Parts: sequence; C-alpha cells; structure tokens
Amino acid sequence: MKKKICIETFMTAVMLSSPVLFPPIAGAMDNVDKNLFPYAPSLVNWEKNQAEFTPPETCSECHPQQFQEWTGSIHSLAFKDPVYQGELNKAVKAAGHDIARQCEGCHSPVGVVTGQVKGPGLTGLNALALNGVSCDICHSVKSHMGWQTPYHQPENGSFVMSPGKETADGVVLTKYGPYTPEEGCGDDFHECVEQPLHKQAELCANCHQVHNYATHTPLESTYREWKDGPYSVKNITCQNCHMVDYDTFIRSADSFIKPERGEFRHYFNGANFLIYYLLEQAATKAGDEELAANAHSKYELAVGRLKAAADVEVSPVYRDNKLAEIKVRVHNKRAGHNLPTSLTNIRQIWLEMTVKDETGKVIMTTGTVGKEGELPADVRLFNSDGMGDGFHFQVDPWKIISFSRHDTIPPKGYKDVYYGVTAPNAKGPLAVEVKLRYRQAEQKIAHALLAAVPGDIDLAATYGLTSMPDLPILDMVERTVAINTTK
Ligand code: HEC
Ligand code: HEC
Ligand code: HEC
Ligand code: HEC
Ligand code: HEC
Repeated sequence: MKKKICIETFMTAVMLSSPVLFPPIAGAMDNVDKNLFPYAPSLVNWEKNQAEFTPPETCSECHPQQFQEWTGSIHSLAFKDPVYQGELNKAVKAAGHDIARQCEGCHSPVGVVTGQVKGPGLTGLNALALNGVSCDICHSVKSHMGWQTPYHQPENGSFVMSPGKETADGVVLTKYGPYTPEEGCGDDFHECVEQPLHKQAELCANCHQVHNYATHTPLESTYREWKDGPYSVKNITCQNCHMVDYDTFIRSADSFIKPERGEFRHYFNGANFLIYYLLEQAATKAGDEELAANAHSKYELAVGRLKAAADVEVSPVYRDNKLAEIKVRVHNKRAGHNLPTSLTNIRQIWLEMTVKDETGKVIMTTGTVGKEGELPADVRLFNSDGMGDGFHFQVDPWKIISFSRHDTIPPKGYKDVYYGVTAPNAKGPLAVEVKLRYRQAEQKIAHALLAAVPGDIDLAATYGLTSMPDLPILDMVERTVAINTTK
C-alpha cells in the first residue's frame, strides 16, 4: 500500500509541475519557462561561451570519410530543402516568425541559437546555418532535456549543445562521440568526450519526435513508434538501420544483430528519394559531377530501403466454396517504426489492385492514380488525416491539433485489407496484380509547397524545374497471384 501512495505522490508532483512549464491552453508557447527553454517554441539549448561552432568543412580535414558520407544526406539539406523552405514560408505568413523558430530549431539549430536564421530564404547566411544538421550539431550534444518536456521524452529539439569550454589556457573545443577516447583523440583541435547518448535512439528523438508548437499534439512520432515496438526491446536503434549501408541495415532488421564499430556510415538515409533526385538535378546543372554521383548513390539507397521495408501476401476468401473476397495482408517487414512514419499525414502508401479474368478482361480495379495525380476516393491508404480547430481536415503542422484517422502499420506488424470480388462467369483462375505504392506527397500539396518557396530560391535555375513535375511514385512491392474462383 505504501508503495502505491509513493507513486501517486510522484505522479501528482509531475502533474503539478508540468503545467508550470506548459499550461494546457492554445498559444501556450508564451508561458514556456524561458529560463529553461530560451529559444521556445523550439526546446533547443546552447551552453553559450567563447567556444564557437565549427563548419563541416573544417571537420572534413581530419574526418574526410564521415564528411563524404554526410554530404548530400538529408541532414546536410535540412535547411536548403526547397520543400521545407516552401512550408516554412507558409508557416511564417500564417502564424508569424515565432513559429519559424520552432521549425529552425530542428532544421538548422545553430542558425537559431546564433541568431543567423531569421526566417525563410537562404540569402546572406553563413555555412553553419545553411548546412542544416551538420557535424557540430550532433557532436556538440552534451545532454538532452527530455525529462523537462510534457511527455518526459526528448522532442521538439530538446538537446543541449556545448561546442566547447573556456579554460585558463583559452578555449577548448569538445566533441562528444560514442567511444572511450584514445590517446591523441582530436589532434589538439578538440578534446573527445564519450557520450552514451550517441549510441541511443534518444539522440535522434530530439528531432524525430515533433509536437505542435502550442497545443503540444504529437505530429510526428517516429521515436515513440520505435520505443513501443520490437526493435527497441531488442536494442536495435535508429543508428543501426540509418547509419549503415544497405546490407548491414538488412542484417539489423532481420537478425537483431548490432553493427560493429567500423560499420557505421553517416548516410542518414531514409525514404526521401525525391530530395536526392532534386539534388542530383541541381548538381548536374551546376556541373558538379562528384556531387551528382553522390546524390545518385543516395537515391538508390533510399529506393532500396523502401523496397526492403514491406511485403504483401494475397489470398482468397471462399464462402460456400465460391470466391467472395481477396485478402491482402501488408507487412511492415523492416521499418523500425510504423510504415509510413513521420509526416504520416503527407506521405502516401497505398494499395493498387487489378483483377483480370482468364480472357484478360479487367473485372475490378482499385487505387489507380488519376490524370491529375489524384487517388480515387475508395483507395486504401496507409497514412493519417490531421484535424484543426473545429475538427475539420488540416495539413499544416501549426494548425493540426489532433488526428481523425491514423492508419499506419506497426514495426513487424501487418494490416489486412479485404476486397469483395465475385466472378460468377469466370471459367479459369483470376490474375490478381497488387502493388504497394509510395509517394512523398499528394500532387496538390507538392504544388502548393513548391509554389511557396521563397523568392531567392530559383527552382528553374537551380533544379531545372520549369513547370510543376508529376511527383514520382515508387512501387515498394509488386505481386501477381493466380486465384481460383471456386474452392
Ligand atoms: C522536432 C523537430 C522538427 C520540428 C520542430 C520541425 N520539423 Fe520539419 N522535419 C523534421 C524531421 C525529422 C523531418 C523528416 C521527416 C521525414 O522525412 O519523414 C522533417 C520534414 C519536414 C518536411 C518535409 C521535407 C521533404 O523534403 O519532404 C517539411 C516540409 C518540414 N519538415 C517543414 C517544417 C516546418 C514548416 C516546421 C515548423 C512549423 C517544421 N518542419 C518543424 C523535424 C522537425
Ligand atoms: C545526426 C547526427 C550526426 C551528424 C550530423 C554527424 N554525426 Fe558523427 N556520429 C553520430 C553518431 C550517432 C555516431 C555514432 C555511431 C556509432 O554508434 O558508432 C557518430 C560517430 C562519429 C565519429 C566516430 C567514428 C565513426 O565514424 O563512427 C566521428 C569521427 C564522427 N561521427 C564525425 C562526424 C563528422 C565529421 C560529421 C560531419 C561531416 C558528423 N559526424 C555528423 C551522429 C552524427
Ligand atoms: C585536426 C584534426 C581534427 C579535426 C579538425 C577534427 N577532428 Fe575529430 N578527431 C580527430 C582525431 C585524430 C580523432 C580520433 C581518431 C578518430 O576517431 O578518427 C577524432 C575523433 C573524433 C570523434 C570520435 C570521438 C569518439 O567517440 O571516440 C568525433 C565524434 C569527432 N572527432 C568529431 C569531430 C567534429 C564534429 C569535428 C568538427 C567540428 C572534428 N572532429 C574535427 C581529429 C580531428
Ligand atoms: C537537430 C535535429 C536532428 C537530429 C538530432 C537528427 N535528425 Fe534526422 N532529420 C532531421 C531533419 C530536420 C530531417 C528532414 C530534413 C528534410 O527533409 O528537409 C531529418 C531527416 C532524417 C532522415 C531522412 C528521412 C527521409 O525521409 O528520408 C533520416 C533517416 C534521419 N533523419 C535519421 C536520423 C538519425 C538516425 C538520427 C540520430 C542519429 C537523427 N536523424 C538525428 C533532424 C535531425
Ligand atoms: C529496423 C530498421 C530501422 C530502425 C531501427 C529505424 N528505421 Fe527508420 N526507416 C527504416 C526503413 C526501412 C525506412 C523506409 C520505409 C519507411 O518510410 O518507413 C525508414 C524510414 C525512416 C524515415 C523516413 C520516413 C518517410 O517516409 O519520410 C525516417 C525519418 C526514419 N526512418 C527515422 C528513424 C528514426 C528516428 C529511428 C529511431 C527512433 C528509426 N528510423 C529506426 C528502417 C529503420
């Protein structure tokens, strides 16, 4: 009994203490404790002193391999990404610059704490701000403030950056890393400090757990999905799948074997093949063949990850010995979190199915993309729908306060979809073609975002985009199965 009282007292203390930091009202941002979180609504922190942040080019002098791997990664593009810049521009216009600070706290943290980044656009910014999530973001991370957030977990940029310290002999740069430092680590340029966080998902969670800036609704819950799933139980972290090459990722996902020290790569490769495609276009246009080849290899990696992520099984359901339904089971085979994850209200994964009889005549279709890139109303989509105030449909992250639908597939889990199909006149077996398709966004949303890019990003000059492109669709899985119409 005594124990129970203790827990209740603790919970009461937690519940009493949280509202002081985050009162549960819309526009709560103004009430966040600014002493704890001076850059609110971003929860990023900086132990400010004479030690300065270092641009990635300097790190590259001694760490060329990590630099080469990181170059062209989504992290290196997190601020320059035209899709991000378009949405940022919309956010600032709709909700003011304070919102933008929340976005920038994850997309260009050093740009925020040093006051370089003041809104959308790239003009006049230094290399550190432009380079988004660069070396000195992660390797200056000394700790995180996850316990001081409402959900008591890292989120919304809740990490503490400390690029160095002042000593009697002057400034000493400190770089935090995964290993116990050996003699001479840092070559007099920096000291090395072992930080276990760098081997944990919680490092990534600071930015891969996104909440509404005011209401605190979880919007992107990649960390939470991972934490509640089997990979976290087996201690297979984000790093074990996203900081390794393709084969090592497959081994981590299938065998739960953690990669060895020498196997880590700074690719941070996920599903966003579109960004690598745009980068390859831009690099080719600018005559930078090396970067174009780099972007192309990252494009192939992302496509490979998407194709390895899922599987489908197709099987008949008979009633009275006659075909009544076709069951499609969609497996999340190798994503460490839900499929899709993150911007689930923007990303699209859906089933397309065509059923033909023995003469080749189409007797049923579903999920076929229309002329304008639209999906039919009856499509089975794996994603989510956000709701704003008044509970109507919303896509913008500053407006979403809850979700009306969450239909994503948990890690190592599956979802079943049943299609009613009868073919009373068919003589032979039916040919059932099933595709699981992936697209970064709906065509209309992509239009709106690219149309909103700030004036100093010239899509035609930089990316060769003179008109709005059809967003590419990737087939994650394709299967054709023969199904008998009678048992
Ligand atoms: C807590 C960190 C965090 C905050 C705050 C944040 N983002 Fe992001 N953002 C991310 C991560 C992580 C991704 C990658 C998710 C993915 O690719 O699925 C992302 C992806 C995006 C993308 C998609 C980019 C693409 O190329 O597809 C857009 C657009 C975007 N963010 C805009 C914003 C805007 C605008 C804000 C502020 C209102 C914001 N973000 C706030 C972490 C954050
Ligand atoms: C998004 C965070 C992040 C960024 C950005 C990042 N790193 Fe790392 N880095 C890590 C993590 C996590 C590890 C540990 C991986 C492991 O478990 O071995 C690591 C490991 C390292 C190591 C130790 C040896 C190795 O490769 O495992 C070096 C050196 C290093 N990083 C340098 C860099 C440099 C240089 C850059 C920029 C070009 C950079 N990092 C960018 C997160 C990051
Ligand atoms: C003058 C050379 C030099 C420069 C510049 C340099 N480093 Fe290092 N760093 C080293 C050496 C040497 C080691 C130890 C051997 C190794 O891991 O490569 C090291 C080790 C590391 C480690 C591994 C620590 C661990 O866990 O054992 C990280 C992380 C790291 N450096 C990050 C950075 C970052 C980030 C930058 C740029 C801000 C940077 N370094 C710039 C020389 C340098
Ligand atoms: C300082 C914030 C920050 C940290 C820390 C961070 N990320 Fe990211 N990450 C981002 C942002 C922002 C994006 C999306 C950029 C964009 O799309 O414009 C992103 C994108 C990604 C993507 C690509 C997603 C896609 O759609 O392809 C992967 C994979 C990824 N991060 C993995 C990691 C891993 C693993 C870690 C921890 C070792 C980590 N990140 C730590 C901010 C961060
Ligand atoms: C077992 C391997 C595995 C682990 C562990 C894992 N991921 Fe992934 N991740 C994948 C695969 C495969 C994909 C591509 C399919 C997809 O989009 O879900 C992916 C996709 C992503 C994306 C892009 C989503 C999109 O559609 O834009 C982000 C962001 C991401 N992962 C971040 C993380 C973070 C952060 C963690 C840790 C909390 C993590 N991942 C753990 C395998 C993994």
